[in-house]
Amino acid sequence: IRCQSPGVDKTKTKRNLFDNASNLLTNLLAGGNLKNMPVAEGAVTDLFDRPLFYSLYDWFLEHGSVYKLAFGPKSFVVVSDPIVARYILRENAFAYDKGVLAEILEPIMGKGLIPADLDTWKQRRKVITPGFHALFIEAMVRVFTKCSERTVLKLEERIEKGDRSDKSTIVNLEEEFSNLALDIIGLGVFNFDFDSVNKESPVIKAVYGTLFEAEHRSTFYIPYWNLPLTQWIVPRQRKFRSDLKVINDCLDNLIKNAKETRQEDDVEKLQQRDYSSLKDASLLRFLVDMRGADVDDRQLRDDLMTMLIAGHETTAAVLTWSIFLLAQNPTKMRKAQAEIDDVLDDGAITADKLKKLEYIRLIIVESLRLYPQPPLLIRRSLRPDKLPGGYNGANEGYEIPAGTDIFLSIYNLHRSPYFWNKPNEFEPERFTVPKMDENIEGWAGFDPARSPGAMYPNEIIADFAFLPFGGGPRKCVGDQFALLESTVALAMLLQKFDVELRGSPDEVEMVTGATIHTKDGLWCRLKKRT
Ligand code: HEM
Repeated sequence: IRCQSPGVDKTKTKRNLFDNASNLLTNLLAGGNLKNMPVAEGAVTDLFDRPLFYSLYDWFLEHGSVYKLAFGPKSFVVVSDPIVARYILRENAFAYDKGVLAEILEPIMGKGLIPADLDTWKQRRKVITPGFHALFIEAMVRVFTKCSERTVLKLEERIEKGDRSDKSTIVNLEEEFSNLALDIIGLGVFNFDFDSVNKESPVIKAVYGTLFEAEHRSTFYIPYWNLPLTQWIVPRQRKFRSDLKVINDCLDNLIKNAKETRQEDDVEKLQQRDYSSLKDASLLRFLVDMRGADVDDRQLRDDLMTMLIAGHETTAAVLTWSIFLLAQNPTKMRKAQAEIDDVLDDGAITADKLKKLEYIRLIIVESLRLYPQPPLLIRRSLRPDKLPGGYNGANEGYEIPAGTDIFLSIYNLHRSPYFWNKPNEFEPERFTVPKMDENIEGWAGFDPARSPGAMYPNEIIADFAFLPFGGGPRKCVGDQFALLESTVALAMLLQKFDVELRGSPDEVEMVTGATIHTKDGLWCRLKKRT
């Protein structure tokens, strides 16, 4: 079996088939072994009729915070419990890998941080984390502002060119946010201006093609794409391979260029974290400059590709759902705009002003609570383990065999009636008065003192009942980047426009893969503020 994908081991297709067969077998054995665990029987229609996380929520209310979900011979353990989540993500993190998720993402991200094996991950995480230094994020505010300005200008022009006397326009904001997030990630991570807000190019098309395929694969729990010959026969697999090649060639060129233009001056500035006078403050510059010419190009490319995918749709989704929620709550929209007018006073956003945009920051985290991206984290146990008993002594703690596939349902945790007042309501203010009235055994409650200086509520403050960026050693590396980026973009949009949904909120249907997004776009009426 020949595999022509650039840089991919020729024996890989064979090995993947073997791995998949043995994983399935291990899973069957594991699934049959979860004694005493409540069981939810899923019908295949549960996978297709509506987003899976809805059914997982109903079963959580019915069966409790740890249950087994059986789809025929295949089974998953579904966890909606902060104590068990804390154990899997932090306390015993290295006894689990990414299981199905790694199988889906490895053909795209190679040995990037998300699917990487443990040894590669340990080495790369150590190198990449310092790149997201607080001063780098601060320097990125310029990029966030420049890109958001382009989006605002484009929308203003649309209104000017239109013929509506009320100075409004109808626009699919989800699409605009997707372009904006792509431009930001391109400039911030590898200093490449996609300018997708204003134009289409073969690289942009290839990025969207690849994202579409990644999304499609993440809704399939059997990796059909590893079957021999499909890469050559099935048109969408052929297209995927050619899209991947376009992006890889682009990334290879950027890496080559970064290596060739390495200058000792810049290295010194980076060592002193002096981003202010650097022309290129991107993460790629940091990774190349700080490690010299010895960086492995293939690994660098996998790292960049991972960040491109991990940081793009996620951020676009946060912005989309923030607007969806605000548009249904005009009083909160006005409160947000009053804060923006007061803090920005018609001027530009700076790092200092961002600190004062407190309500906008709470809107972003509340949007992540209601629509977590991704709604599920996926793990597979590498060896037999015993899960802790859960809050309020829910159970004795279940034994799980090696090879158990686990869904940590962030959606369930974030909407759990045990940890949140009115869990399904949009209430950004809730983070300033968290639920502290009940003593929930095993859970430490909300306490901002556990994370001093944090600009945004996080999993430490909420003792794993709130996991917008995961937790433990594999927590998102781009969390602060994404939060500030979303705050800047949302503030700049609301500074200039009033936003209403074009139709009823019920018409906005959801679909989900890696992220929760709309089926047909978020169509809004944008009106220029006077
Ligand atoms: C991991 C969410 C933006 C890069 C994760 C994880 C979550 C997450 C939940 C943990 C996955 C797991 O444990 O299985 C988000 C959300 C974002 C966002 C909601 C936007 C609002 C970004 C950005 C970047 C990024 C902007 C890079 C520039 C990564 C990487 C990992 C990761 C590299 C893997 C970390 C590791 O395994 O060591 N993200 N992310 N993310 N994210 Fe993000």
